[in-house]
Amino acid sequence: VHAEYGGVVPELASRAHQQNIVPVVDTALKRAGVDKHELSAIAFTRGPGLLGSLHVGTSFAKGLSLGLRVPIVDVNHLHGHVLSHFIRREESDPVPEYPFLCLLVSGGNSQIILVRNYNDMEILGRTIDDAAGEAFDKCAKVMGLPYPGGPHIDRLAAEGDASRFKFAKPHIAGLDYSFSGLKTSFLYTLRDNVKVDPDFVENNLADLAASLQRTIIEILMDKLDKAVKQTGVKTIAIGGGVSANSGVRHAVEEYCVRRGLTPFIPARVFTTDNAAMVAIAGYYKYLDRQFCRYDSVPYARVNV
Ligand code: KG4
Repeated sequence: VHAEYGGVVPELASRAHQQNIVPVVDTALKRAGVDKHELSAIAFTRGPGLLGSLHVGTSFAKGLSLGLRVPIVDVNHLHGHVLSHFIRREESDPVPEYPFLCLLVSGGNSQIILVRNYNDMEILGRTIDDAAGEAFDKCAKVMGLPYPGGPHIDRLAAEGDASRFKFAKPHIAGLDYSFSGLKTSFLYTLRDNVKVDPDFVENNLADLAASLQRTIIEILMDKLDKAVKQTGVKTIAIGGGVSANSGVRHAVEEYCVRRGLTPFIPARVFTTDNAAMVAIAGYYKYLDRQFCRYDSVPYARVNV
């Protein structure tokens, strides 16, 4: 519903949630072969995100929990991304050992998190402006690609020359990220070249995408490397929508092999926002009997 507007329209998102939440939950239960009376708790995303959509989920969770007489567990969806690595299809599937570092890269966040335990996480670095996903999406938009642009850049980059164009990289102290300079530099490159050749973007789509993707990956990996050296942590996980990117996945794997570290790269279905990761985060809180009060409200912004 958002594609034709080139970005998420909050009002449309809330309405779509309202329309879909009952059929989605119903379908999920049917596919899982679980009756709603077998549920022991309801986990829901309390934030961060768009308030209108969060209100729909929060209210629905409260209603369902009262109807079924089971507790509710509120989940910070960023915890969900980090803990998605503990979703196992088989008992024998490996899970990360604590402590591990998680590079959380999504449409709204770019963070390096030190995960000491499922309930003990520290943000070592975060974006001071745009998130990595926004850099992908905004640059894709100026190239005329559909929203969200990240997957299109990924696809095009596979056929392009990543060394063809050079874009600005930030000089930010510590482990924080910045992507606004790259975005501007990308925009100026397009503007300057289009003046000379009106078909510049069309004729260079793949090289532009590959060069942009390479630069974003270099920015991400530079701070991740610093965090590894600073903490001495030996296990690296990635999560969030941008961790679906082929280049990011490859770079992290390759980096871990080179340095003798253990990578945890999530299955693509668990990279973008999904309910399974909210369930696993809720499950750990449930085991700790950390239930949510009925007067709790969603939050638009929150840190891990
Ligand atoms: O975690 P997520 O589903 O939700 C939000 O943070 O909203 O992340 C969505 C972001 C979008 O910016 C999208 O363009 C990006 O993840 N994304 C990708 C890829 N798949 C999704 N970026 C680059 N390459 C991809 N393959």
